[in-house]
Amino acid sequence: MASLREPTPRPSGAEQRCCHVGDPGGHQSGAGSCSPGAGLPALIAALAYCYLRDRLSKEDALLEAARINNVSEVKRLLEEGTDVNARHKLGWTALMVAAISRHSSVVKALLTANADPNLGDDFSNVYEIAKEKGLHSLEVLVTREDDFNNRLNVRANFKGCTALHYAVLADDYLTVKLLLDAGANPLQKNEMGHTPLDYAREGEVMNLLRASEAKFQEEQRRREVEERRRFPLEQRLKEHIIGQENAIATVGAAIRRKENGWYDEEHPLVFLFLGSSGIGKTELAKQTAKYIHKDIKKGFIRLDMSEFQERHEVAKFIGSPPGYVGHEEGGQLTKKLRQCPNAVVLFDEVDKAHPDVLTIMLQLFDEGRLTDGKGKTIDCKDAIFIMTSNVASEEIAQHALQLRQEAMEMSKKRIAENLEDVQMTDKITISKQFKEKVIRPILKAHFRRDEFLGRINEIVYFLPFCHSELIQLVNKELNFWAKKAKARHNITLQWDREVMDVLADGYNLHYGARSIKHEVERRVVNQLAAAYEQELLPRGCTLRIIVEDSDKQLLKTTEGSSPSTEKSKVPTLRLEIVEKDRKARKLEIQAPLNPKNITYFL
Ligand SMILES: Nc1ncnc2c1ncn2[C@@H]1O[C@H](COP(=O)(O)OP(=O)(O)O)[C@@H](O)[C@H]1O
Ligand SMILES: [Mg+2]
Repeated sequence: MASLREPTPRPSGAEQRCCHVGDPGGHQSGAGSCSPGAGLPALIAALAYCYLRDRLSKEDALLEAARINNVSEVKRLLEEGTDVNARHKLGWTALMVAAISRHSSVVKALLTANADPNLGDDFSNVYEIAKEKGLHSLEVLVTREDDFNNRLNVRANFKGCTALHYAVLADDYLTVKLLLDAGANPLQKNEMGHTPLDYAREGEVMNLLRASEAKFQEEQRRREVEERRRFPLEQRLKEHIIGQENAIATVGAAIRRKENGWYDEEHPLVFLFLGSSGIGKTELAKQTAKYIHKDIKKGFIRLDMSEFQERHEVAKFIGSPPGYVGHEEGGQLTKKLRQCPNAVVLFDEVDKAHPDVLTIMLQLFDEGRLTDGKGKTIDCKDAIFIMTSNVASEEIAQHALQLRQEAMEMSKKRIAENLEDVQMTDKITISKQFKEKVIRPILKAHFRRDEFLGRINEIVYFLPFCHSELIQLVNKELNFWAKKAKARHNITLQWDREVMDVLADGYNLHYGARSIKHEVERRVVNQLAAAYEQELLPRGCTLRIIVEDSDKQLLKTTEGSSPSTEKSKVPTLRLEIVEKDRKARKLEIQAPLNPKNITYFL
């Protein structure tokens, strides 16, 4: 447990230095406090230090005041609005400095100003930080010792250590208590996988930590339940996923049943997501994992099943038996599942997998466990398995389009008949009959086994986008580029509904949202890039995207000319600069605009 400390404490940085910002009592020590024998060089150094001190940023000053236990300075800086969670350039926060230095009054002041007790140190060790920041390791060592603490083992890794880890290392009961009372997580691990308890000495600090672990777990569970109640899964999913309301509702309901204990504990939850490409299948799986797991890296496992098309590739999936090539490496699925047995596992394009791989998956779904090449069993009854497939996507898309068409005609009829209950037609539901009569036989023919389909809890249907959803997708995409234009070039981008309608026409049923992304890149971003390259965009300008040759204009211009030839013209998107007097000037961007020759500037 003492591996982070050095056995023989050395004098602290404050004692080593002859001049520093303030002292524990809040006095400022100046050049006069240097030892008389130090002479001129020391005086110059002291003056230089004091000059630098005056130029310290507020955040640096806070870190320094926390280190030297200058409570009044800490409070003053916080009142001035200094960021309480600001980090030292090498990675730690004021709360961490105060904790390792056993300055409980400073800790209290920082916590009162809402310092986050669960932030982890970005400082790993001297050598890594020196490499990362391009500094000399000696400089890093001296800075860590002077600005943080000089009694810690320089070789140890401190990445992810919280203020609580440091307070425990300093064996400071009062600070540990303050931090726990302010919501510090006693179970939080640093990058080495150690909780604060792992560094505790026998005694009151250890007892306090032990007692608080159980309490914290209960409190955390209560908080999570409360947060989920306030901000349910469906609502979160809708923030990221446009449309697909039935899919969101089906997944949301199943997860809620599981969360509340209304599920079959013997089997994992298994979904099959069906629908064409680019309509949010992967995104929904990813967002579900994000909701369930804070650590999305471990909590979301994605396997592209087209990599397991051959029989011999089964070994890549679960690892090969002893004596075979790759035995030591282990399998792609088993390795990751072992790290997080309750992960959300996405089997993308499951229809491409070899039947032997499907057999293994069936065993996994059925028994909720899996034996790897090394003979070790992983229990994963708590995992959520999501398979995606494009099988039957054409049938689903055509059926959905037909339903929409029928619904549209129905509402037109109602409008014509002046009926009261006119409903707009975006919401359609795939009928049970269609699922049974059309989809199931296709799936059966493809997967060839009833028991495989029988183990799927929910088959989730993803439908092509309707016009209003396409408008939302276009808007999301344009906003994405507008943000970049603002951040990188201070250019403001504007557009109106007509522009969005034109871009939405670029929707291709087979590519889904991806076709909208491409359309925006092809018709808007390419022009932006070219205009930028040709230096037509002054920094800080406002740019408007406009539609040329729109239907509205065509109506005006076609008088006298042959409407049939003009009507077939596709509207063009152009860029214009909005001048200060609100007049607009169209940009004359040089042709040809060959997308292949243009690199994006954003
Ligand atoms: N319904 C949707 N709402 C918002 N973005 C979407 C939607 N569907 C797809 N996208 C976007 O399109 C891209 C591809 O989506 P993805 O979920 O990978 O499609 P697939 O259905 O093929 O798995 C992603 O960047 C995703 O954010
Ligand atoms: Mg996908």
